[in-house]
Amino acid sequence: MKIRGIGPERVKEALKNGEVTISVYGLGKLGLPLSLILADTGARVIGVDVNPGLIKRINEGISPIPFEPGVNELLQKALKEKRFRATTDGKKAAEESDVMVIVVPVLTDDIGRPDLTTIRSVASTISEGLSAGDVIITETTLPPGTTLSLGKYMEARCGLKLGKDFGVAHAPERTMSGRMIKDITLSYPKIVGASDRETLLAVKGIYEAINKRGVIEVSNPTVAEAVKIFEGVYRDVNIALANELALYSEIMGFDVIEAIRAANTQPYSHLHMPGAGVGGHCIPIYPYFIIENAKRKGLEMKLLSTAREVNDKMPFHVVYLTVKALNDRGKTVKGSTVLILGLTYRSGVKEYYKSPALKIIKELKDMGAKVYAYDPLTTKDEVVEMGAYPWENNGVDAVIVVNDDKIFRDMIYEGKVKVNDVIIDARRALDPRKIIDMGVKYWGVGYPQPGEECGFSRGA
Ligand SMILES: NC(=O)c1ccc[n+]([C@@H]2O[C@H](COP(=O)([O-])OP(=O)(O)OC[C@H]3O[C@@H](n4cnc5c(N)ncnc54)[C@H](O)[C@@H]3O)[C@@H](O)[C@H]2O)c1
Repeated sequence: MKIRGIGPERVKEALKNGEVTISVYGLGKLGLPLSLILADTGARVIGVDVNPGLIKRINEGISPIPFEPGVNELLQKALKEKRFRATTDGKKAAEESDVMVIVVPVLTDDIGRPDLTTIRSVASTISEGLSAGDVIITETTLPPGTTLSLGKYMEARCGLKLGKDFGVAHAPERTMSGRMIKDITLSYPKIVGASDRETLLAVKGIYEAINKRGVIEVSNPTVAEAVKIFEGVYRDVNIALANELALYSEIMGFDVIEAIRAANTQPYSHLHMPGAGVGGHCIPIYPYFIIENAKRKGLEMKLLSTAREVNDKMPFHVVYLTVKALNDRGKTVKGSTVLILGLTYRSGVKEYYKSPALKIIKELKDMGAKVYAYDPLTTKDEVVEMGAYPWENNGVDAVIVVNDDKIFRDMIYEGKVKVNDVIIDARRALDPRKIIDMGVKYWGVGYPQPGEECGFSRGA
């Protein structure tokens, strides 16, 4: 049943009655959970992906994301109730559907410039199966303006009129791996911007059916795209600010964390935590979605570019601290053993894209260190692929804590990691006093280097 032009309450009813068919393009870490949640409303859902192996496994009831809580249960339920099936035939799926949701990734080049080839090819496939009354929703994070331009692109290919015969909307996902179901259904309100009022009301109904926090309507898809990018840029710039203040605190000889905690007791100060840099597919990438956009229109976004530069340099700063700390102990990096704790870009999420740990491993190896690594989410083979030796509980000269997984704190405090010389706390995950009391030298991002402390120290 075509839902464009009917109000949210009627849309919810139609979903419940199994009258609406929705296809979801891209059955990845976000697309599959979203498809299954939509199927759970009562809708008939067709999952589309270009990977035939993935389609086969999903149709056999094997979740490709077993680490994602709740997905396997929803998959079994949807298959049993015949509300969901997966296919590689995107054109046929579009012909059979009333709503198409696009969740394929936007790849970027080395410096983060977006490549819209994949999403355009999905739009092209959909336009071949488009009919009057259809609604196309993009969930993938996109440079502002993309959804409307995809709408125009489809209009030119299918002969239907955008905003009259069919509509497009952007409803940015606001999720994190490891908590997809929770984030899609109840963590945050859904932002929706559409090409026209009739599409907006229909899309509102869909998300009200799955999201307990409701829907925030914005004027058009471009605003909705900007909302998602702004969230990421806010994080990137604020992390860069914390990192720069950490570098300043180091040379001034005081602990940045002590200053940040005290500053944040004032309600207008929300200083973030410094660290070894920023990784993952989102925060280091999204600023370029608007830096590039702006450049084409003659605006230089200096703050965003500088934030990227500051955060990208942090892994090298961690290496610099390691070199200094080892020298301080009369050792050179060349020939020293170093253990990296934390390989994923964020604790608890098995993703390594742009992870600061990978840069740190490479630099230290290039300098002649023997680098070991451990992460509870990483297999020994994967450690080897990353260029390090799997840690076998052997003693090392230096330990670098790169992410704040609680397990690393416990391992260190319980003496499970034998450190000859120094711990470098890149994520400020440890209590410096505890480390010093254990008789181990403590170095950290934003922490005064031994002998460089300014004035009286409360902990001394
Ligand atoms: N996973 C996350 O934590 C997360 C967080 C924030 C945002 N996102 C957003 O979700 C988008 C998708 O991310 P993901 O993590 O699900 O990606 P993913 O890499 O896990 O999955 C993408 C899927 O799309 C499929 N695909 C590629 N080209 C296709 C095509 N032409 N037609 C159909 N399918 C195609 C791939 O085979 C793959 O299965 C991202 O671009 C991002 O905007 C994801």
